Amino acid sequence: MKNNDRIQFATRLGAIAATAGSAVGLGNIWRFPFEAGTHGGGAFMLCYLVCIVVLGLPVLCAEFAMGRATRSNIFGAFRVLAPKSSWWMVGYLGIAASLMILSFYCVVAGWTIEYCAQSAIGALDFPEQSDYHRHFDEFKSGNWRPLIWTWIFLSLNFLVLRKEVTKGIERFSNILMPLLFVLLIVFCVNSLLLPTAKEGLTFLFKPDFSQITPSVLLGALGQAFFSLSIGLGCMMTYASYFRPQTNLVRTATISASLDTLIAILSGVIIFPAVFMFGVSPEAGPTLVFETLPSIFHHLPGGSVWSALFFFLLFLASLTSTISMSEISIAFFIEEKGMSRKSATVLTSAIAFIFGSLCCLSFGCLSNLTVNDLNIFGIFDYVASNIMLPIGGIFIAVFAGWKMPKLFLKKELTNQGAIRGRFYGVLLFALRWVAPIGIGLVLLNSIGLL
Ligand code: PFF
Repeated sequence: MKNNDRIQFATRLGAIAATAGSAVGLGNIWRFPFEAGTHGGGAFMLCYLVCIVVLGLPVLCAEFAMGRATRSNIFGAFRVLAPKSSWWMVGYLGIAASLMILSFYCVVAGWTIEYCAQSAIGALDFPEQSDYHRHFDEFKSGNWRPLIWTWIFLSLNFLVLRKEVTKGIERFSNILMPLLFVLLIVFCVNSLLLPTAKEGLTFLFKPDFSQITPSVLLGALGQAFFSLSIGLGCMMTYASYFRPQTNLVRTATISASLDTLIAILSGVIIFPAVFMFGVSPEAGPTLVFETLPSIFHHLPGGSVWSALFFFLLFLASLTSTISMSEISIAFFIEEKGMSRKSATVLTSAIAFIFGSLCCLSFGCLSNLTVNDLNIFGIFDYVASNIMLPIGGIFIAVFAGWKMPKLFLKKELTNQGAIRGRFYGVLLFALRWVAPIGIGLVLLNSIGLL
């Protein structure tokens, strides 16, 4: 069943660093604050944490087990574990979601390069808060500049992907994640010293239960799946590079905890500043790009901090886009027999076309909207809030009900070498809690409940 020729992450830490590298990215630092801001702060935070622990973590473990056991991409994993069935079609959902996410993600990653460059030349220092808003607005709606950054980001992504997976990914994530973490802590302390710290923290952590609406629940669910990179086979593909000795439950728990911690740190940085500088918490995708420069402006040596931070954010985005691109690349190579080069070119070309559309949806295509969402917003909403949770249901049901008996247990205990203390809880979560929980949130959000 195993294809033992497949390359593996060289070290134990490599597995954690790479999965954390995939999980930690714009989702934590850009998407989490704006989703929390538009969905009532504390209410969202509470739902998000519940979704991570109760729904996300079990699906993450299932993806790990399926990926490592089959040493295969999402299609191969379903095909090996359930031959002659149609389960492999879930793979198409994963590939479509990964390409949609890649398309809008590279636009925001492009914004981070612009802001890094602008900070480095000291062009982001404005006297008034309204200038930060105006500046970002003008930038994102000017067609060419953001487009070129999107393309530059995609080219960098392409260059990294052409190399072998372990070398490229491990080297990147091992050095940079800790540095980003340290920087976040520094900014966190700075925000906690602002006079509006209490207001910001109350907004973020004090749930107003009356605000827990279907849309808040769906937003939190989508954010949890997006942030953990689950529901689309990303973690499955990564786990196919894990070593047989890797403790899957522990790796999943550490990655999910780190990921959540970074999202929380990001919220703690942003919200005190939001109240301090009079930014609307409901600003949406622009929230972080309007708030962070104001924070940096008030720090001694602000431009240096700013340039460094946006640079690290750009690299964190890169470790995430590498992982989401790897889903379709592994598919084209292993299922369609393409060379790595052609698979990488094809994936990048698709992202190039749709990424350009997402980028222009803030400029010349801004009139194309559905329910007030531009193309960028539609891609994000459909992929994150609908496709990932549906993928999560399939993965949970498959791992809980369909996978050969005791298979999950063997994989989670490394064939009996380690204790499987959480196996019972996990199986229950996969069989009942995750499918029913995700199903209810989805039905609820379309008004069927
Ligand atoms: N988890 C990443 C983030 O929070 O930025 C985004 C992501 C990566 C989503 C990989 C999906 C994926 F397959």
